[in-house]
Amino acid sequence: MSLKIAAFSGSLRKESYTTKLVKAFQHLAPNGVTVEIIDISQLPFINQDLEEDLPQQVKDLHNSIQNADAIILATPEYNRSYSPVLKNALDWGSRPAGQNKWDGKATVVLGCTPYNLGAFGAVNHLRQVLVYLNMHPVQQPEFYLAQAADKFDEQGNLIDEQTKKMITTLWTTFIELINKLK
Ligand SMILES: Cc1cc2nc3c(=O)[nH]c(=O)nc-3n(C[C@H](O)[C@H](O)[C@H](O)COP(=O)(O)O)c2cc1C
Repeated sequence: MSLKIAAFSGSLRKESYTTKLVKAFQHLAPNGVTVEIIDISQLPFINQDLEEDLPQQVKDLHNSIQNADAIILATPEYNRSYSPVLKNALDWGSRPAGQNKWDGKATVVLGCTPYNLGAFGAVNHLRQVLVYLNMHPVQQPEFYLAQAADKFDEQGNLIDEQTKKMITTLWTTFIELINKLK
């Protein structure tokens, strides 16, 4: 098995728990699975005027999506919705009209918060958008990481055994979905 996964963190914060969670997924990936974390911090704000001559950052994003067998989307929760940084990347990946790069991609959606509710509101807003983009998210198990501050050590390594098990289980289901969609 050889699979390439493109992973996106919706937080640009240096010490982001969401990004640490993506790195934990990268670390726990099964043999033969490569996870590349895509930098979306330099994407311009979505602007249709730029579509006539796409910025290099947008072209790079398009290549990253097209070259990936599947996608990981991890989001913090902002005011009960998902991050605008991630929305911007999703929007650019869907443009120009009729050239949606996300089309048909197997996807995992991760919610992450230092608080109690696991970014449920964020994940469920995000899932609505994936329907329109014709992405295929793993439906079960859902993944919500609450109390994220307690789950990583000072170096950013995941130290919570239950979360590690959740990730391993999700990887198994994700790989099954990727293979089913091939
Ligand atoms: C604008 C804004 C709105 C927020 N709204 C929520 C929220 O609705 N729910 C929540 O659990 N945390 C909320 N938070 C707190 C974030 O969960 C927290 O800052 C978290 O660390 C952000 O994720 P990160 O660590 O990956 O950067 C909000 C933070 C910001 C900056």
